[in-house]
Amino acid sequence: MGLSLLRVLSLFLLNTLLSCGLTEYAELTFEPNSTTLYSGEHVDLTCHMREANVSEWYYEFKWNDKPLVPITPSNVLRIPELTPDRNGDYQCIAHHNRSEESKQSNRATLSVSAHRPRATVRASRTSIPVGGSLTLTCSVEESAGWSYDWFTRSPDAEETAIATNPVHNSLSISQGGSYWCRGRRTHSDFFSEKSHVHHIDRTLSNRSFVVLQHNWTQIFSGETISVRCEIQGGGDTHGEYWCKARADWYSSTEWSEAFQLRKASGCGPELVHM
Ligand SMILES: *[C@@H]1O[C@H](CO)[C@@H](O)[C@H](O)[C@H]1NC(C)=O
Ligand SMILES: *[C@@H]1O[C@H](CO)[C@@H](O)[C@H](O)[C@H]1NC(C)=O
Ligand SMILES: *[C@@H]1O[C@H](CO)[C@@H](O)[C@H](O)[C@H]1NC(C)=O
Ligand SMILES: *[C@@H]1O[C@H](CO)[C@@H](O)[C@H](O)[C@H]1NC(C)=O
Ligand SMILES: *[C@@H]1O[C@H](CO)[C@@H](O)[C@H](O)[C@H]1NC(C)=O
Repeated sequence: MGLSLLRVLSLFLLNTLLSCGLTEYAELTFEPNSTTLYSGEHVDLTCHMREANVSEWYYEFKWNDKPLVPITPSNVLRIPELTPDRNGDYQCIAHHNRSEESKQSNRATLSVSAHRPRATVRASRTSIPVGGSLTLTCSVEESAGWSYDWFTRSPDAEETAIATNPVHNSLSISQGGSYWCRGRRTHSDFFSEKSHVHHIDRTLSNRSFVVLQHNWTQIFSGETISVRCEIQGGGDTHGEYWCKARADWYSSTEWSEAFQLRKASGCGPELVHM
């Protein structure tokens, strides 16, 4: 009884020692630090040596158990331009330069997508409120490790890049305009596709009103009426009209209050201000 407990304990200790030994030594990581990478970008494989002097080892990099390159004194290996057939399991094996000792790393799985990903831009609200701002957020599907570039085209300007902190994926704006973004791999010149163009309206403080083109007090069946803001209606229809005015393509007032056209009980409709 006591003996078997001892055996169990020593097995447990052996297991602990083995697993500590494995995690202490070689670890393979990718930079960009993502398991999904894209056709055309590069990846750096690094064989980290835990608690050992990295310069006293030679490195073997394997891809699906086959050597990728001849054994090398450098613990970093760059694959300059990924293609989808580079999918699979990667592993490094470190060989000590003065002894028979060698360490195997974890196996890290890489999947290479054939298509360049597209950035997506989202707005925190539908338009910029009077005197306020809104936040645009850029993201690149299912993968981390991006910085972001922003572009705008305002009514009277050419396409321009907006200077921001590229690590942040959000942008606060208080000007109406067209905005779009793009992901860029941090420390690399690989770009995502640009996002679609997001048109942002800014609400002006100016109010708008619907007014009749002519100051008529009564309108009769069949007669055509004109209201400013270029809303036309008339006849014997029930109708409510609103308008908003635009200063330019991206800046407009809030909607006016409703103006109601109501059919009178007599011979024609009458107009009632709401
Ligand atoms: C990403 O980095 C973390 C922390 O350094 C590491 O544990 C992980 O294995 C890395 N992942 C890849 C895919 O390289
Ligand atoms: C690693 O080993 C080399 C050569 O033996 C030595 O010059 C260097 O100082 C060592 N580095 C560390 C961090 O121990
Ligand atoms: C092992 O590597 C260290 C550090 O690079 C170097 O100083 C030493 O000469 C190497 N030893 C052999 C036997 O290659
Ligand atoms: C429109 O007609 C009404 C009633 O005749 C009058 O009180 C009002 O001043 C007129 N408004 C304008 C802008 O002419
Ligand atoms: C809106 O109001 C501002 C300030 O009162 C004025 O300068 C501007 O011309 C107005 N815009 C329009 C489109 O009427």
